[in-house]
This record gives sequence, C-alpha cells and structure tokens, in this order.
Amino acid sequence: MANQIDPRIERVLISAQEIEAATTDAAKWINTNYENKQPVMVAILKGSIPFFAKVLSKVTVDVQTDFVVYRSYAGNVASVSEPELVADLKNDIHRRHVIVVEDICDSGKTMEAFVNLLKKRHPASVKLMVLCNKQAHRTTGIKPDYICFNIPDEFIAGFGLDYQEYMRNLPYIGVFNKELFDKELAKLNRSK
Ligand code: IMP
Ligand code: MG
Repeated sequence: MANQIDPRIERVLISAQEIEAATTDAAKWINTNYENKQPVMVAILKGSIPFFAKVLSKVTVDVQTDFVVYRSYAGNVASVSEPELVADLKNDIHRRHVIVVEDICDSGKTMEAFVNLLKKRHPASVKLMVLCNKQAHRTTGIKPDYICFNIPDEFIAGFGLDYQEYMRNLPYIGVFNKELFDKELAKLNRSK
C-alpha cells in the first residue's frame, strides 16, 4: 500500500508533505538571493540526490549544476574517520557563486573538507544548504547557511539518507530501527 510506513522505520520524523513545503522554501531562498548571479548548485552525492532534484526543479533563477562524491559514512550508522573525495567537480568554480547542497550535516567533516577544497579555487561565494542538521554530533566549526530541518540525535533514513545503501528511496525521513534491519540483512545473506 502506497501509504504504508517501511517496517524498518520506527517513526516518521519528516513527512513527504513537510519535505515538499521545505524544498519550496529552500528554492525561494535561492531565487531571492541569487538573481543575476548565475550560481552553481553542487550536490554532494549520493545522499543529496532527491533533495537536490526537488529544490532544483523549483528554482527559477538561472543556475548551473555540478556534483562531487564523498565517501564519509560507508553506509553505516557510525562515521568513518575522514571523508574521502571519490569524484571531483567537472567545472571550474573560480569567481562563481557556489551553493553546496547536502542531505545532512552531522559532524560537519564532509562539508568542512569540501569547503576547504572549494576555497582553494577562489569562488565568489560559498553557501551551504542542508536538508537536515544534526547539531548534537558537530565536531567542526561548520554552520550551514540554510537548514530545512533541525533533527534530534537519531540515525535517520529515507529521502536520500541510507543505511547500507538501502532506503534512499523512501519519500519521507524516519528514525531507523537498527535491530529490525540487521535481522532482515541476515535473512537476505542466508538466502543467497
Ligand atoms: P558528517 O561528515 O559527519 O557531517 O556526515 C555527513 C554524511 O554522513 C552525510 O552526508 C550522510 O551521508 C551521512 N549521515 C550522517 N548522519 C546520518 C544519518 O542519520 N543517516 C544516514 N546517513 C547519515
Ligand atoms: Mg551524504
């Protein structure tokens, strides 16, 4: 059934309707602040794909897009040591207005690494837009400029956020039930 909640989700934290409204507001922020600036929206893949696409579809100012891939969480519930740049931007961002779009700012290490890299290339400006901000685990000085949702200290999944690469496709964001998911994975492995 279309409205059924995934059994691996303990409770819905952010509904599809709330995401819809929040992405409309996020696009408005871009439309208001970037008129005649031809910004570059950069998605940090893979987690930001649904968020990026939804905001992008609601942006009305002239905008270009680019992508980077960072490996930071290895799909698990705990952060790995240092974020690793797996794929770099395709275009030069020298003197460009860059809007970095990310699914979640947790420790802030991924965004810190990317911001440091960007600054070496002398962009006109860099702003950070995040779907979720998990302040409790921040170990860096990173402060997103635009936050859709401040979330509690929980492991979440859905709308781009994964657990071991699964659940990115959920249209909402929920608090993840680890016990249940581990059992499902064990079942899957046994049947291979
Ligand atoms: P940070 O570098 O610690 O800020 O973590 C950033 C990355 O970790 C994000 O881009 C996500 O891919 C991942 N991440 C952090 N918290 C969660 C979560 O609660 N669920 C799923 N992925 C998460
Ligand atoms: Mg990510």
